[in-house]
Amino acid sequence: MGAARLADVMVAFVRVAKTTDVPPGCGRVVVVHGYPVALFNVDGRFYALSNVCLHRGGPVGEGELDGSVVTCPVHGWEYDVRTGANTINPAARLRTFEVRIEGDDVLVGS
Ligand code: FES
Repeated sequence: MGAARLADVMVAFVRVAKTTDVPPGCGRVVVVHGYPVALFNVDGRFYALSNVCLHRGGPVGEGELDGSVVTCPVHGWEYDVRTGANTINPAARLRTFEVRIEGDDVLVGS
């Protein structure tokens, strides 16, 4: 088994949406192994990150997306969805997850 195949085994990918379910500029909350994950489409590229805001746990995936920045709908903390980094304090970072596109399916790795 090569290194790439071993990595595939170690990261379990889950189908979470169709690509058409999340148009460019939009996001939604999906479930990966029972946990809510925020999924966003930035100009056709998909990004997945923790749905739990580092401030007080707001649902990041329900926030407005402007470019690559999402605003938490509860008190307005902002994160770059490409990295999970808070825009004011980049040391505060939401966990990110690998995303894979297979056909028109979006898969998220955990
Ligand atoms: S819970 Fe997200 S900004 Fe307060």
